[in-house]
Amino acid sequence: MRLTSFRTRVLVLAIAFSVLLIGSVLITAYFVVSGGMSRVAEDTVLGLSRQAVKLTRDRVVSSQKTAAAEIPESDAASQHRRLTRAQNLFQAALPELFRTGMSEGEFAFYAPGDLSTPEWSTDRRTDTQVETIARERALRLLTSTVSVSGGGSGLSGLFSRAQLGLYTVHVPIDVPDGSRWVLDVTYVPFREEQTIDAIRAPMLVLALVGTALAIAMMQMSMGWVLKLVDELRVAADSIDAGQLDVRLPAEGQHEIGDLARSLNHLIERLRRRADAQTRFIADASHELATPVAGIRGYINILRAWGAEDDAVREEAVRAIDRESRRMARLTTELLSLIRTDEDTTCRRMRVDVNALSREALAAAATRYLDKGLEFEGPEEGPLVAMNDRDKIEEFMHILVDNAAKYTPPGGTVRVQTWRRRDSVVIEVADTGVGIPEKDLPNIFDRFYRSDASRSKETGGFGLGLAIAKRMVEVCGGTIEVKSAVDEGTSFTIRIPREVAASPHRL
Ligand SMILES: Nc1ncnc2c1ncn2[C@@H]1O[C@H](COP(=O)(O)OP(=O)(O)OP(=O)(O)O)[C@@H](O)[C@H]1O
Ligand SMILES: [Mg+2]
Repeated sequence: MRLTSFRTRVLVLAIAFSVLLIGSVLITAYFVVSGGMSRVAEDTVLGLSRQAVKLTRDRVVSSQKTAAAEIPESDAASQHRRLTRAQNLFQAALPELFRTGMSEGEFAFYAPGDLSTPEWSTDRRTDTQVETIARERALRLLTSTVSVSGGGSGLSGLFSRAQLGLYTVHVPIDVPDGSRWVLDVTYVPFREEQTIDAIRAPMLVLALVGTALAIAMMQMSMGWVLKLVDELRVAADSIDAGQLDVRLPAEGQHEIGDLARSLNHLIERLRRRADAQTRFIADASHELATPVAGIRGYINILRAWGAEDDAVREEAVRAIDRESRRMARLTTELLSLIRTDEDTTCRRMRVDVNALSREALAAAATRYLDKGLEFEGPEEGPLVAMNDRDKIEEFMHILVDNAAKYTPPGGTVRVQTWRRRDSVVIEVADTGVGIPEKDLPNIFDRFYRSDASRSKETGGFGLGLAIAKRMVEVCGGTIEVKSAVDEGTSFTIRIPREVAASPHRL
């Protein structure tokens, strides 16, 4: 068993937790029982002392009566004799009195001259300092006091025989010779100690069984969790970079199931990304292969007939020029796409969105001069945002270029801008050919062109909108499209008026 393994750690924790919990329950239970037994012992000794005091007082009175009957009181000497006689009668009666009158307990009488040695007692135990002090106190305050001597320490009864100690009540009592003695009534709580001893073994057994059960239950639930984790691990091990169609077992409405589901989502996203990458490479190679094939074809034509026929030569050179331009444009767009993929930071700077829109419109107007399009710009005056100038400029060029490209001669391309709460909204609209509804969800995908034949005519690669969307997102914004075939298209972009001071990261 590895010491650092999860199972070992949980086992150690389980043991510590059970011992702490069950130990504290055990100790509390012990204190409750032993406290209760101590109170029972105290009540018993108080009951005994009341009985003993009554017996003693009766005996004092009866001794005095007998002495008075025997010795008539005539002078001081006879009075003294009578007191002595009464005292003797009292003391002589004590052994019989406590043997027959009391069912349990030990008794002793102490004269005020020496409170540590009894005048008379039923046993021969040695006195403790505590008791002597308690007797002095009883005489001084004329009240009964209770002392406990010889008890074990607080928890001793948990591990060995319980020892509650001797409970003694000290009562001041007037004896027949006129002096005041102290009556000690002592109770040895054997019965109560036996009760405590009797619960010790079951309590310990209960504690051990409880601890074992707690550990076993924790281990069982741990085993179940670890089994699920192990299943996840085995499944995860079988996934390698190239094999992303494996799914982790994601049953059960518990945390491990949730983890598996999250991992499955992650794998799914990775798979989609890997697929997109593969598609991208295939599309890019295909797009590059087409002009390359064209160029090679025209080179062959040049070789075969170029020397004799000027018209053929002229035609081939023009075609090679066109195809190589197309290749150059494609590589530029690919590079731009890769750059936007890598560049996830939005630089915060002052941008006049209206000025940028007008520039984009002016550039398109020059490029599509021969189409006789009408270009409408945003209202006069600036619309300032704190955002990334270069990215806004680039996506505006892409969108305005599309609008002009896909609008037949005589149409209109319009850019409008306005402020809405914390955003700047830009709308690029045209009265062009429109996009069929089925294509709308895909137009932001790389290499997607809504109508292959038409696009071939216009010569696009289907990369512009993918780049534009990415840039809008890096600027912290969103882009939406609305379109109707043969009526026109409008793109609405919302970007924050102020991006966060720190660079915005996707
Ligand atoms: N304003 C628009 N009006 C009509 N169709 C549009 C418009 N903008 C985009 N589209 C459609 O969306 C497709 C994708 O546009 P995108 O700009 O990504 O590629 P492209 O213009 O074909 O090529 P390029 O990579 O040169 O920009 C286009 O082929 C076109 O079919
Ligand atoms: Mg385009």
